[in-house]
Amino acid sequence: MTALRPTPGSPAGQTVTPSPDVPPPPSTPGFHHITLVTADAKGALAFYGGVLGLELLHEETVDGGETSYRMVFGQEGGRPGTLIEVLEQRGAPRGFFGVGGVHHLALGVADGPSQLKWKRRLRDLGIPVSGPYDRGYFHSIYFRDPDGQILELATRGPGYAVDEPADALGRRLIQPDPRRLPGGRDEAAIRARIHPEPVPEITPDMTLEGIHHITGITDDLEGMGAFLERALGLRLVKKTLNQDDGRTLHYFWASYDGQEVAPASCLTLFGWPGSPQRARPGFGQARSVAFQGGHEAAFSSWRTHLESLGLPAASAPSHPSGPRLSLTAPDGLALELVFREAGTRDPL
Ligand SMILES: [Fe+2]
Repeated sequence: MTALRPTPGSPAGQTVTPSPDVPPPPSTPGFHHITLVTADAKGALAFYGGVLGLELLHEETVDGGETSYRMVFGQEGGRPGTLIEVLEQRGAPRGFFGVGGVHHLALGVADGPSQLKWKRRLRDLGIPVSGPYDRGYFHSIYFRDPDGQILELATRGPGYAVDEPADALGRRLIQPDPRRLPGGRDEAAIRARIHPEPVPEITPDMTLEGIHHITGITDDLEGMGAFLERALGLRLVKKTLNQDDGRTLHYFWASYDGQEVAPASCLTLFGWPGSPQRARPGFGQARSVAFQGGHEAAFSSWRTHLESLGLPAASAPSHPSGPRLSLTAPDGLALELVFREAGTRDPL
């Protein structure tokens, strides 16, 4: 896919003056939803609706095919970027992360104190939680849903401009502070940090803020970067290392106007060059990641744009919130673009 290699002399972050005769290619403002797979819809409902307190916005029985039941969870009545679609696939094998798949889904929380309340709530419900870890750009706790999907709750701040100028993100490889890496951090102290009282109810300060980031695994960071930048209009905003494995590169792309990183837009990838471990579909492994395409009037310009890059985008069956395009990234990651029909609301 040579058409998607980075353009020589145009490093990420450099402003390119558009030609007055050529309309700029479309770019996505961020995520629309993520699609997860469960072996047990009841268990997923109890977890996403009950434990995490997300709104069940839509549910339906699906006849025929591998999916038997479909649910959509979200917040704020279904704001794009907060949506989690869960498909029940009874009899599906256990999925596993790997190249071309999602490693984890991070949801946003306001700050450290609210994160510690979540840690207490989850622990008291018998769900193992690790962290909070200082990731430099945010603080993170980790746990799994009943199907084994890794989830993270990440704080809003301090943000990506903590170690680079806000108007020049993603320009150089940043080595994490060794005190944040295994061997340099105080694991016992991290384990001990928790809210002191039980948290049986989700209090307003614990409100989840939608998708904070989604992290996948690729065997080709350079090729995926070219794809995300040229096909979707995302921009490289951070080049660093996996802070649980200092030998693994970790790059972040997002909707970034050169000043601010848009919320619910950050796709991050671990680089596993040469890895034979490909993502295995099944329960506990995300099936696809969906970005916003904008108004349905943009549908044909997106398709033309993707085809001009040698990326055939199939017109998929309409998402309940509007038409959509499905496409496959160079490393195999399944993606969608979801469009908004006039007069409709997400996700119904
Ligand atoms: Fe993460």
